[in-house]
Amino acid sequence: MTDFTQTPQTGTIILAGATGELGFLIAGFVIRRGATVKALVRKGSANARIPELRRLGAEVIEVDFNSVSELTRACSGGTCVVSALSGLRDVIVETQTRLLNAAVEAGVPRFIPSDYSIDFTRLPEGSNRNLDLRREFSTRLNNAPITPTSILNGMFTDLLTGQAPVVLFKIKRVLYWGDADQPMDFTTMRDTAAYTAAAALDSATPRILRIAGEVATIRDIQKAAAEVTGEKFGTLRAGSLGFLGLMIRITRSLSPKNDEVFPPWQGMQYLHNMLSGKPKLNPLDNDRYPEIRWTLIREVLATAR
Ligand SMILES: NC(=O)c1ccc[n+]([C@@H]2O[C@H](COP(=O)([O-])OP(=O)(O)OC[C@H]3O[C@@H](n4cnc5c(N)ncnc54)[C@H](OP(=O)(O)O)[C@@H]3O)[C@@H](O)[C@H]2O)c1
Repeated sequence: MTDFTQTPQTGTIILAGATGELGFLIAGFVIRRGATVKALVRKGSANARIPELRRLGAEVIEVDFNSVSELTRACSGGTCVVSALSGLRDVIVETQTRLLNAAVEAGVPRFIPSDYSIDFTRLPEGSNRNLDLRREFSTRLNNAPITPTSILNGMFTDLLTGQAPVVLFKIKRVLYWGDADQPMDFTTMRDTAAYTAAAALDSATPRILRIAGEVATIRDIQKAAAEVTGEKFGTLRAGSLGFLGLMIRITRSLSPKNDEVFPPWQGMQYLHNMLSGKPKLNPLDNDRYPEIRWTLIREVLATAR
């Protein structure tokens, strides 16, 4: 559990994407710290999280995300804009650019973009479609008169029990390509939200904050799965990273839905990146907010049982 029995903090966080999974958690953590959340939601949205946000104590502002002047009014008085938007180019590059321009126009001093990923600054262009978009936006952000901070958290640990088919509970194997001893970064969505809230209320953050609830290799995940289930788990090497790259190209070319935000081949790109070691987060800034207790992989795997 994260302990927030401390002096209430001040600050007004302008939060885009507050109806999303991560954004909603960020709103809760900012409010628990005693600060103000202005949640920007799409005009006319009937999202069920909107009454929940109000109940938490957030001010909900309906806004046309295509209108910089409306966004500017909504950003007024903010101490930091936090984006937890999710999407492709129209959202990550274009909508975030309008939000950035509005933040600058409104005189908001700080901006946290919707990065929440492995270290895309260390990846070659073309190796991950979604992260290329974040790199493109970061160039615009770096050139804007505002202080930017990216939160990089590796992979959401939560994905290990669902979307990322790494721990194969049925056949008691941990699937991988390449090297089973390659360290990788995992942080739960909840811990990422707790940290983002802390960073949003910290007026002196660096350009990048890197966190990992746990750094683990495939063999560490294998051990965690065995510990949690009380059963023997093995590893399953499906081939080299070169072979995974080939599978990604084939899956992508056959996929009818390349406009989805997270098609299966994009998850495969993410895994390929992580197993390559290139986007490994280093150094870690976990200790910056000592009140945050990091959730371990085995705790997450235990929830899948
Ligand atoms: N590191 C990892 O393993 C990992 C895994 C998953 C996600 N992420 C990242 O975490 C961040 C948040 O993801 P999430 O899963 O919380 O996303 P999500 O649940 O899909 O929420 C997305 C939010 O963006 C809003 N949004 C989308 N398109 C919009 C638009 N055109 N205009 C205005 N608002 C728009 C949505 O509003 P509505 O409710 O109105 O649609 C919602 O509030 C993203 O950067 C995502 O890539 C990281």
